[in-house]
Amino acid sequence: MHNAAFRALKLNYVYLPFAVTPAGLPGAVNAIRALGMAGVNLTIPHKERVLPYLDGLSAEARRIGAVNTVVNHRGRLIGHNTDGRGLLMALRSAWGLSMRGRVVCLMGAGGAARAVAAALMGAGVKRLIIANRHRDRARRLARAIAGRSARVRVIALSDLSLGRIAVDCDCLINATSIGLQAGDPRLISPTVVGRFPYVCDLIYRPAMTPLLRDARAAGCRTMNGLGMLVYQGALSFQLWTGRKPPIAVMKRAAEAFNTSI
Ligand SMILES: NC(=O)c1ccc[n+]([C@@H]2O[C@H](COP(=O)([O-])OP(=O)(O)OC[C@H]3O[C@@H](n4cnc5c(N)ncnc54)[C@H](OP(=O)(O)O)[C@@H]3O)[C@@H](O)[C@H]2O)c1
Repeated sequence: MHNAAFRALKLNYVYLPFAVTPAGLPGAVNAIRALGMAGVNLTIPHKERVLPYLDGLSAEARRIGAVNTVVNHRGRLIGHNTDGRGLLMALRSAWGLSMRGRVVCLMGAGGAARAVAAALMGAGVKRLIIANRHRDRARRLARAIAGRSARVRVIALSDLSLGRIAVDCDCLINATSIGLQAGDPRLISPTVVGRFPYVCDLIYRPAMTPLLRDARAAGCRTMNGLGMLVYQGALSFQLWTGRKPPIAVMKRAAEAFNTSI
């Protein structure tokens, strides 16, 4: 996706994958400075662990407590988090849906859910309902993002709880990892899923998760996580290069990759 974008804009950059162990993280961060890299993306398990090794954080990354993008400003490494804004842009692009004034139910309270919850609050949702297997983790997330308003509520990740709130909700977002593996159990029953007008799964591989299949069969509008992947990448691209990202090129490359494996 990034290399396709660099080629399209004739930029002298290359995007490379590096497998970094937790023990290797401090050395890898120093290598960004030593090798003069423009920046990096980070993924699990480094998104939170990298914080002490950076020179600064964007307000967004500080609020989320995790970094997915590092920008090298002449040796000063600044951490950003583009995941949540990436999802908002994908929702707007796919459905023309703004989150202002919406009631959203978010399943999950891990790293991706933190980024999405912070972005939804920033976008002005009316109410955010968080459902997670471990309720303590959901409560911690709710406390971290709630601010002064009382717009965040935590419920059990169960058919009963989700069934009760669905009628008032605009959108259901799955930010758990359930659906990644073939044979994963259903998070909630098809009847309950069908009560949400819009259903989004952050998972993009497989492109059609059991949740999305149930939602589509029930007539809901559905979206997988590929759009979020593209837009979070586009925001990173802009941070590294200062150039407007060629979204259509990035989307095509991501779609080709997703269907090729
Ligand atoms: N589209 C994109 O660009 C994008 C970006 C980032 C992440 N993602 C996707 O988002 C998902 C979550 O990633 P993450 O980084 O947030 O992972 P994470 O920090 O490990 O969080 C995992 C989440 O899944 C829940 N979970 C795991 N096993 C479960 C089970 N058996 N039953 C119910 N809930 C379960 C966890 O609940 P507990 O807290 O109770 O353990 C937690 O809420 C992944 O599928 C990832 O691929 C997509």
